[in-house]
Amino acid sequence: MGFQKTLSLCFFLSIAFQSLFSAPLIEQFKHAGYAEFCDKRQGAAAFNSLYAQFDELIAFLQSNPVWAQKLQSVKERFIRSKARNYYSTDFFGFYDESKREGRRQISFYYSIHFHEFIDSYYPEFSQVPEIVRFLEACRTIQQPYGDVFEEAAAELGVETIFASKYGSPPLLFKVVKYLSSYIATKPHYDGSAFSLFLDSTDSQSLLLAPYQSSFTVEDFASPPREFSRQEDQNSILLIPGALLTDFFIYPTPHIVLQSEKSRYAAVAFAMRPNYTPQKCEFSSLPRFDID
Ligand SMILES: [Fe+2]
Repeated sequence: MGFQKTLSLCFFLSIAFQSLFSAPLIEQFKHAGYAEFCDKRQGAAAFNSLYAQFDELIAFLQSNPVWAQKLQSVKERFIRSKARNYYSTDFFGFYDESKREGRRQISFYYSIHFHEFIDSYYPEFSQVPEIVRFLEACRTIQQPYGDVFEEAAAELGVETIFASKYGSPPLLFKVVKYLSSYIATKPHYDGSAFSLFLDSTDSQSLLLAPYQSSFTVEDFASPPREFSRQEDQNSILLIPGALLTDFFIYPTPHIVLQSEKSRYAAVAFAMRPNYTPQKCEFSSLPRFDID
């Protein structure tokens, strides 16, 4: 049943991919900085439920700092394990930056191997429903997007970037809550091969710009969306990250503007197995907090 559902979702995404990527993906990245497609299967309800579970997790960890510390020690042990090299990053687990000036956000970086590591070595976590429910929600929701990354890499002719003994792209899934006190300062490049902006409660506040030799604030704009969250047709944006420069594919800088209320978002990152990023100077990015 689960497998069948997965297949039909992949089929759907694949069709969307072919029809919407009628222009070659590389051209869309060069001219717009992104490619949009539609995800009808995991709409607003699935992501709203994820965000509600994230709020429960945040409330639990903020009132039980011992468990937040335990999660931190799991992460530290995980990044010393072999599985870490599959992702080539140290971003895993819970990051509470709610009190940090200039950040004012809380995020969780999920990966299937991190989840399995918790299940295998820290059975006490199974006693905490807020953690169990959130990790299960992440496992379910991130699952279909590995195929999207594989298709994108195949179309660009860079499929070797995902070669590993696991046979699928290393997928890092981020859930983030920007607090109402969050203030946008400067765009950034993602340290991924590809990033997929899956959902957000305020898509207008995401601005991006195609890569160019220099940038001003005016270069950044909110992409017009063909699909709408309100109609349960999630608009998904695919952008290149900073790990494709050996193929002369350059990253799309982006920024999330502040909004009046909290904003939730979910993003999937395709990483590169056993990869050491090349030293690369990208175009410098303008500050948004200076008039
Ligand atoms: Fe980003």
